[in-house]
Amino acid sequence: MSPVTTIDRIGNYEGQTVTLRGWLYNKRSSGKIQFLQVRDGTGVIQCVAVKSEVGDAVFAACEALTQESSLIVEGVVRRDARAKGGYELSVTRVEPVGGSVDYPITLKEHGVDFLLDHRHLWIRTPRQRAILKVRAEVMRAMADFLDADGFTRVDPPILTPSSCEGTTELFYTQYFDEDAYLTQSGQMYLEAAAMALGKVYSMGPAFRAERSKTRRHLIEFWMIEPEMAFYTHEDNVRLQEAFVQHVVRHVLDHCEAELATIGRDVDRLAKVQAPFPRMSYDEAIRWLQAHGHDIRWGDDFGAPHETELAAQFDRPLFIERYPTALKAFYMQPDPERPEVVLCADLLAPEGYGEIIGGSQRIHDYDLLRDRFVTHNLPMDTYGWYLDLRKYGSVPHAGFGIGLERTVAWICGLEHVREAIPFPRMLYRLYP
Ligand code: 4AD
Ligand code: MG
Repeated sequence: MSPVTTIDRIGNYEGQTVTLRGWLYNKRSSGKIQFLQVRDGTGVIQCVAVKSEVGDAVFAACEALTQESSLIVEGVVRRDARAKGGYELSVTRVEPVGGSVDYPITLKEHGVDFLLDHRHLWIRTPRQRAILKVRAEVMRAMADFLDADGFTRVDPPILTPSSCEGTTELFYTQYFDEDAYLTQSGQMYLEAAAMALGKVYSMGPAFRAERSKTRRHLIEFWMIEPEMAFYTHEDNVRLQEAFVQHVVRHVLDHCEAELATIGRDVDRLAKVQAPFPRMSYDEAIRWLQAHGHDIRWGDDFGAPHETELAAQFDRPLFIERYPTALKAFYMQPDPERPEVVLCADLLAPEGYGEIIGGSQRIHDYDLLRDRFVTHNLPMDTYGWYLDLRKYGSVPHAGFGIGLERTVAWICGLEHVREAIPFPRMLYRLYP
């Protein structure tokens, strides 16, 4: 048997006979020649079977292959400048593995509901495969950056007794005789871990029972959450800049083919260089008012506001110091202006909206306890969090970056649903 390889490595075997294992993506025939487009998860290659060379049996086997049937194909690797990956395979042998009758996703256009109903098959198409590859590289880049910067990965629990980001969007479940909720954010646990390990991060799913049906919202999404002891708001923002710049650079360097398959304008990504522009919430409100928006100090931004604010710049935009009343209970007030908090949201360019939410956290025991009272948070479930302010409390800060929104932006996707293998959305739990 010839060596088994994959399409992405086929260039190492020019002139040699190799074996590939994959699926038939597409096929065309000109009577005595079959052109098989074979994909194997690493790429697509054209395999050419010439009747006079392979013989009747192999040719008939090629003819019988249908879309998405699986196969093992052997052939000689030929360089071909016109071919997509630069190589073609001259078929010598074909072994069908699993048949595929009436494959539902044809190579013409389908509606998005149909595709989402067939998500288990849709992910096989080159564009979806490319997006999932970019997602994996984004996660790798994030972990690499933080690991190299002295962070320790820590995994917070998924089942929790309390909420982190407000009680209205909680998924309830029963935990034997207790109430439990799916995590909205691992932040509180990461704050505890930062007091144990200094700089920590998590990478995992978060759940929000949000009745929002927008192109930016998922019910289950992934968040990467760094948390750093002894970091101020300013330190936090600087870290985020370097982090996002690194992630974009890594994708540009490692996903050239994928970005081309997706059709992303990479010149726009190349502009993502720190430092990023910053605006205070106050300035943002004034800017919006000056540009015809009916918005007042104290109002939250909607998607159109975020899109317009960010459209002034070719790199992500920080909006800092939001009104205390708009943000979560744990954010540190600005010592000079307690009506605003030391926080920043990072808005991606090109209309992708908020990709990061972060802040310096309250480290003072009495202040945090007051917040529990004003926010009606029960001490029995949050007591441990208050303890962190009782035993060696330090100023600290952190942020959460939404993986799907980041991938949607980097890939230039219209909707976050394509940025996760199996999206959970309002009214969609299948497949
Ligand atoms: O701004 P959020 O709600 O912040 C937190 O949860 C903090 N506790 C994070 C922290 O400081 N450790 O969420 C952070 C990010 C958002 O900026 C967004 O990118 C993403 O998570 N996100 C969502 N992504 C998809 N669908 C949703 N429903 C999302 N909600 C938040
Ligand atoms: Mg937020």
